[in-house]
Amino acid sequence: MKPAIDANVVVLISGRGSNLQALLDAERERRIDAHVAAVISDQADAAGLQRAARAGVATHVIAGGEFASRDACEQALGDAIESYAPKAVVLAGFMRILGPHLVQRFTGRMINIHPSLLPLYPGLNTHRRALAAGDAWHGATVHFVTSELDGGPRIVQVRVPVHAADTPESLAARVLQGEHRILPQAVDWLTTGRLSLISGRVMLDGSALEHPVLMEA
Ligand code: GRF
Repeated sequence: MKPAIDANVVVLISGRGSNLQALLDAERERRIDAHVAAVISDQADAAGLQRAARAGVATHVIAGGEFASRDACEQALGDAIESYAPKAVVLAGFMRILGPHLVQRFTGRMINIHPSLLPLYPGLNTHRRALAAGDAWHGATVHFVTSELDGGPRIVQVRVPVHAADTPESLAARVLQGEHRILPQAVDWLTTGRLSLISGRVMLDGSALEHPVLMEA
């Protein structure tokens, strides 16, 4: 029998929450040894909050407008996260840029999923940019969060072929399927202690990764 799950995960979202759903499904099916303990959104109408509620997971909305300053908001966000003593904090479609204090507070525990093969295409509109560049391959990356937007040490990537007839939407859908594989994998590595960030280097199973682990869709 598997040991009881005691590794809490807090997931931050702003929207649809399909990556959150992938984590909830992986937990329910015991494919990860981790428990999604809370979901925090900066948007009260994020569809992902319904997914969390359906799974019986605690939800919080922490929106900038309710606070006197950005620092106060980030303090509240950090305190809410820390109250679950999470082993992993997952940014899964969280559209707010976090300040350095909050990032430092969770360094080595906070990961982000980004829909490109970083370092290609940090920022927005990644599918459109990959198509415009004529890339043969596109994909997604899970990386540790640092103060550099989409620039932290990379852990795992999934790559998918770009087809001649692709639109940004069809390409996004193919990438998203891959995202739903690599995010639970990275969370499992982190919560079981196989993955860590030491002196800025990604360590997996005791060795420093020279390149992110690459999965094919
Ligand atoms: C994903 O493409 C993720 O890589 C990006 O935002 C999107 C979120 O999708 N950061 P969802 O809310 O998980 O469905």
